[in-house]
Amino acid sequence: MNYETLQCDRRDRIAFITINRPDKLNALNALAKSELKQLFLDIQHDAEVDVVIVTGSGEKAFVAGTDIKELKELDEQQGRIFSERGQEVFNLIENLGKPVIAAVNGYALGGGAELALACHIRIASDNAKFGQPEVNLGIIPGYGGTQRLARLVGKGRALELILTGEQIDAQEALRIGLVNKVVTLPELMISAESMARKVIGKGQVAVRLALMAVNATQEVSLASGQAFEAELFGRCCASEDFKEGITAFIEKRKPVFKNK
Ligand code: COA
Repeated sequence: MNYETLQCDRRDRIAFITINRPDKLNALNALAKSELKQLFLDIQHDAEVDVVIVTGSGEKAFVAGTDIKELKELDEQQGRIFSERGQEVFNLIENLGKPVIAAVNGYALGGGAELALACHIRIASDNAKFGQPEVNLGIIPGYGGTQRLARLVGKGRALELILTGEQIDAQEALRIGLVNKVVTLPELMISAESMARKVIGKGQVAVRLALMAVNATQEVSLASGQAFEAELFGRCCASEDFKEGITAFIEKRKPVFKNK
């Protein structure tokens, strides 16, 4: 299938998606969002694809945000729907059931940062810039950014980015855990593909279940997370290892665990 705003090549079990509006720094207009949804649904059901790599066209931008020109006429109700539609596309990516790697090749701002956040692994080129500049426009991140950014880098750092609207460079993004790795621009796709190949080399049942398990940790409330924690803590207390650990501490010796 041909897309107007995207390119997709599938080879050796990897789907390479390029957001392709370079003259608009790959800003996501309505068409790009609907094409992304269609393409990811197609890839989800493609048995020949194990891993997806997403990048932006050109050397300047991954995605410079949602298309600001399409925001102008939104009223309250339309704004809510606009946000929900974007969330739906990015939720599809996060819950695709196959690993998605963002190869961030320049500006990842607003919806572009949120797209990278919805991916499972982020590799940035050293010219990449990240930011949530929505406050400059009188709005907030609306494609899951307020939720995913805080979960990934912590509430304090997320609030700093969201409240100031400032951009950070790739090294700072690496330092705060927003990206997994920084490489030069010419190395970016090589590095992303090499990461994809490592995953493809593993049992895909385990890869998909691991994705599901880690995604599930993002879903539970603090209360149910703590209930689960307490249950597991109790299970530890019923183990022989627990008794040995405590006894060894009191007797000032090293514990000898039996893994039971
Ligand atoms: N929506 C729509 N168009 C965008 C865009 C966006 N988010 N980001 C960039 N563009 C367009 C520009 O309007 C310009 O188009 P034009 O040539 O038709 O005027 C083109 O992309 C190139 O951008 P330009 O601003 O000239 O490039 P620059 O190198 O001077 O600046 C940025 C780069 C990324 C700093 C700047 O484009 C910018 O601030 N973009 C908006 C980022 C943003 O706020 N994103 C969050 C949106 S919620």
